[in-house]
This record gives sequence, structure tokens and C-alpha cells, in this order.
Amino acid sequence: MQECQEIAGKFRELCELCKSPAEEIKKKNNLLVVSHVDADGLTSAAIVCTALDRCGLDFQPKFFRQLDEAAMDAVADHGADLVIFTDLGSGMIQQICDRGLLAVVADHHKPAICEARPLAHINPHLVGADGATQLSGSGTSFLLARALANAPGSNDDLAALAMVGAVGDLQDMAHGHLVGINRHILEIGSLAGAVSFSRDIKLFGRQTRPVYKMLEYCQDPYLPGLSGNEDACIAFLKEVGIRLGGEKWRRWIDLSQVEKASFVTAVLRKGLRSGISNVKLERLIGEVYVLLGEQEGTELRDASEYSTLLNATARYGHAGVGLQVCMGDRDRAFSEAQRLLGQHRSNLVNGLKLVRERGITTLKSIQYFDAGDAILDTIVGIVAGMSFQMADRSRPILAFARTAEGGLKVSARGTRDLVRSGLDLADALSRCARAVGGVGGGHNVAAGATIPPQAKEEFLALMDSMVGLQLSS
Ligand code: C5P
Ligand code: ZN
Repeated sequence: MQECQEIAGKFRELCELCKSPAEEIKKKNNLLVVSHVDADGLTSAAIVCTALDRCGLDFQPKFFRQLDEAAMDAVADHGADLVIFTDLGSGMIQQICDRGLLAVVADHHKPAICEARPLAHINPHLVGADGATQLSGSGTSFLLARALANAPGSNDDLAALAMVGAVGDLQDMAHGHLVGINRHILEIGSLAGAVSFSRDIKLFGRQTRPVYKMLEYCQDPYLPGLSGNEDACIAFLKEVGIRLGGEKWRRWIDLSQVEKASFVTAVLRKGLRSGISNVKLERLIGEVYVLLGEQEGTELRDASEYSTLLNATARYGHAGVGLQVCMGDRDRAFSEAQRLLGQHRSNLVNGLKLVRERGITTLKSIQYFDAGDAILDTIVGIVAGMSFQMADRSRPILAFARTAEGGLKVSARGTRDLVRSGLDLADALSRCARAVGGVGGGHNVAAGATIPPQAKEEFLALMDSMVGLQLSS
């Protein structure tokens, strides 16, 4: 109860922070929206751009992999009256102000400590809320969009996109459902009839995949004898008495409640027989989010599938395609996004195969793999997260990949349990990267950096000792 009141208080505080920048934004007419190239960044930009559009304001979106000096140059050169940074910017407040930009920053990454103040800085960390679990970049952007609404509640439908961003940033992972200010926004979206939530199976592809494929791709937990084995999944489901379909394969959404219940019971029983712990098996069930305005059986109907579709555009340099989808294109941009999704899926499968073949090196407090040129630096973080299925969960995992510019990208992923034991990857990566001449940041459970390639060993040693310290304190 007290926790509820605390969250409501933080929500109100952030809404209050949005009021005066919203009024300033409405007075301008040459706006630049700068955002990040992932699902959360795309939905953040789409939420703000839609709100600006509904106000009749002129805007231009721009996307960056990270807000480095080159990106800051491009932003400054644009010559906008006002720049709205979404899902990035909190780590660069000093640089934004040093360039004399009139800026509103709506982000959820850990803010860097600095003296400078932009026109407005909206970030859950500033009101004592955690930006990794309690509010996403898209949620922060939604609060700004709400303040921009022409009539009270007229932008509440955009809460659905905020849920896609939050799920894309895996903010529901720790508890199996969205919590904190995210949950507040979920309730707003639900009241607006834009999104619904319920307990369901957490496997990927409930809307679009044949049910046996959905099972075959189950990675968390890894189900021995089923995961990765199509024939075994087909045989297993037939034995359970689930009709798989003929001409048209049946998807999870096509199954009756009774069939769904037998599916879950059979998978849990099989998991227990294979020695998988209850804790792991519990991850098979959780809350899922349905976008009520979208057509059933499409990626857009389910928050998790939607976010993967968006990653498949933005992480490959096609953020514009994803943005158009978020802003309502169900024609060319949507088809193009679906095509990119096919490629993304096979890249992830190949990435995981590579990790399995090359193996993961274990140090005292961390573990890592180096993908070299074999995995794109923009998706190596996703592969790192997925690699926990074959890695030890008692250490965070680091992944290296070469960037197109010749730098070395590092992506780090932890687990909730490690965070509870003191792990803070954002802090470790930003310090260790800075120590070797790179830049990094992010969240306690997922962070990234770019460092000079020759500094890899030194960086690993620094990370190993810093993570060791975090976990022992
Ligand atoms: O790139 P990757 O997926 O590993 O990023 C993980 C998180 O770290 C993201 O939220 C990203 O915005 C953040 N990050 C950062 N600074 C970097 C690289 C990543 O804040 N240089
Ligand atoms: Zn984000």
C-alpha cells in the first residue's frame, strides 16, 4: 500500500516536471526529436512525434546508436529551435548544455553527475525510481506526450507504444510483469482501451508462430529434448493431443483454453522430469501485453513481438521504417519491417550458434565471448542476453564485437539476482571504459560501451576486479 503511494507520488512528480517544457515546446516550430536505435528508442520517438503531430507542430526525427561527439555535432548542425532527446541524453547533459542547445531530455538511463541544466530533464532516477525496471524511455516520453495533449487524456492511447518500449527493454523480466511507473502507464492504456494484460505463456511468437515452432524456440528455460528440435516438438505436442493444423498451422492464439492448459501442464511436467528447477520453470508463465488496436495474428498485436520487429529495423540502420510502423503505416513500411524481421531472426540464431561453437571464457567474476566480425555490434547485446541459456548465471556476461568504424563494442548483461547482490553494470562499464579511453553507460542489469580494440585485455581485467568488488560489498 505504502509502495503504491510512493509510486503514485513519483509518477505525479514526473508529470509535474513535464508541464513547463510541454508549454515551451508548443511555442516552437522547428523541432528535432533525437532518439536511440532500439525498440525503446523508436517507440519513445514515435510517442513524442505523434504528440507533436497532433499539436500541429513541425518536427524531424533523428536516430543515433549512441550520443557521442559525432552525434552531438550532427544534432547541433541541424539548427533546430528546440531539441527533444528521448531514450538518451541523460549521460550527456553537460555536453548538450555546452553546445548551447535548447533541450528537453526525456530519458531513463543513469544520469551523469553535472552542474549544467537543460530546459528540462525528465528521468525516473531523478525522483528515486529505477530506470531499468520502473520506467522505460518510452514511458518517460509518454509522460511528456501526455503533458502535450490538446485535451486531457487525448494522448492516452500512446500508452500502448510505451508498453512495447518497456517490454523491448526487458523491464518486465525481473518480476514477470511490469512494475512501478510502467504499471501506472499500463493502467492508463488499459482504461483508454489501447492495451490489455493477462497471465499467459511467456514463449515468443504467440500471435504469429505455429505452436510447435514457439516451443522449439523456447530458450528460457532451455528444455532438453525440445528446445531447438522441431521433430521432437511436433511429436511431443501430438502426444499431448494438440492438433497442429494442416494447410494452416495453428498458433497459440488459435488454441482453446483447454488445449492451452494441457500444453502448459505437459511442458512443466517435461521440464520437471528433465531436472529443471521450479524457479526456472516459473519463468514460462507471466504477464503478456496485447495491443487492442492492432490486428490479431500480426506481430503488432503483442508487445514482445512488436518490440522485436522494431529492433529488426532500427538495429540494422532502418529506424525510419520502424518509426513509420509505430506511427501507423500498415502498408509498405510494415511489409519492409516484416522482411527485416526474417533476417534479424536468422542473425540471432546464427549468433547463438557462434557462441555455442566458440565457447564462453570464464574469469573470476565475469564471463565473456568475442564475436569479432561475426556478429553485428548492434545486436551483440541481444545475443549476449540470450546466451545466459548456456552460460553460468552467477556471473555477468560480456560480449565483444568490432564496430564498422574499427572500435570495439562491449555489451554486458546481468541477472536480477546479481543486481540484488550489488551488480551495477552501468557504473562498471562507464568507469572501466573511461579508464581505457572509451565511453559506456546504461543500466545496472544491461549496459554497453565502445573502447579502443587494443585495450580489450586491460578492460577485462578492470571489469573483473570492479564486478568482483561490487558483488562482495
Ligand atoms: O548496446 P547494448 O544493447 O549492449 O546496450 C545496453 C544498454 O546500455 C542500452 O540501454 C544502451 O542505451 C546503453 N548504452 C550506453 N552507452 C553506450 C552503449 C550502450 O548507455 N556506449
Ligand atoms: Zn531504453
